[in-house]
Amino acid sequence: MALDRLDELYRDAILDHRRNPRNTGAIELPDIVGDAINPFCGDEIHLQIRLDGQRRIARIGLQGEGCSINLAAGSMLTEAVSGKTTAEATALTELFRRMMQGDDAAESELRATGDLHNLAAVREFPVRIKCALLSWSALSKAIDGYVE
Ligand code: FES
Repeated sequence: MALDRLDELYRDAILDHRRNPRNTGAIELPDIVGDAINPFCGDEIHLQIRLDGQRRIARIGLQGEGCSINLAAGSMLTEAVSGKTTAEATALTELFRRMMQGDDAAESELRATGDLHNLAAVREFPVRIKCALLSWSALSKAIDGYVE
């Protein structure tokens, strides 16, 4: 999908995260890690997360290869979940998945949480929804695999 087919407003937010990705690179001493691969293209995301004593996401590092939607969504994710508990991050994951499945109420809720709602524009290109969800799969695997 060419990004230029997206609405200008959405496109600008996605391009901003693509050009200036947040929280990229490895972090020291991660408590949990999660990986996800898109089997259709081979692109992948690797997340490292350090938690504080309250299971709050104190640091998150994103590494990956892939298309603009994949990497922009990953960057948005890192901003959205920083400072959240793992339970709050899981709830946000569910909300994001609902939005990508077409739930307009979820999209409205996400407008209060930063840039994530811009990815609703990707729903017009069903084959790319997986791209937007890849980093969220990595996050779910990281959190589900957490053992205190
Ligand atoms: Fe591979 Fe988007 S084309 S993740």
